Amino acid sequence: MTNRIVITFGFTAVFASGFFMMETANAGDKPCKAATFQFDKVKAACTAGGENAAKELMKEAVKKGKAAGDAEMDCKSCHEDTKDFTKVKDGSVDKLKPLL
Ligand code: HEC
Repeated sequence: MTNRIVITFGFTAVFASGFFMMETANAGDKPCKAATFQFDKVKAACTAGGENAAKELMKEAVKKGKAAGDAEMDCKSCHEDTKDFTKVKDGSVDKLKPLL
């Protein structure tokens, strides 16, 4: 009885993680451009899901920034060019640090 539950759970977990990997592989079609990263979290997002995953992480950071009182914050607060996200303004790394 209990064994059966454990086996079912194990199968579900394997199945679910398989799905997850497929999805992140798709998202990685467009890789990040930076060769080196200041933040492990950004690097991890890029490795797992490419630029799309990094964008999702950045969106969360902007949300936190807004919640912390910077109502004007958006991607352009830090990024010079939204076609090339590797170009960041001076001080952006320090600005991003508390938001990740
Ligand atoms: C508070 C500053 C800040 C804000 C706001 C911000 N970013 Fe970033 N972003 C950075 C920094 C700094 C890096 C480099 C991270 C690193 O080196 O680990 C980065 C990296 C990225 C990258 C990876 C670039 C690459 O190809 O290597 C993407 C994509 C990105 N940001 C998108 C966005 C988007 C989209 C928004 C708006 C939703 C946004 N960022 C808002 C600071 C910011």
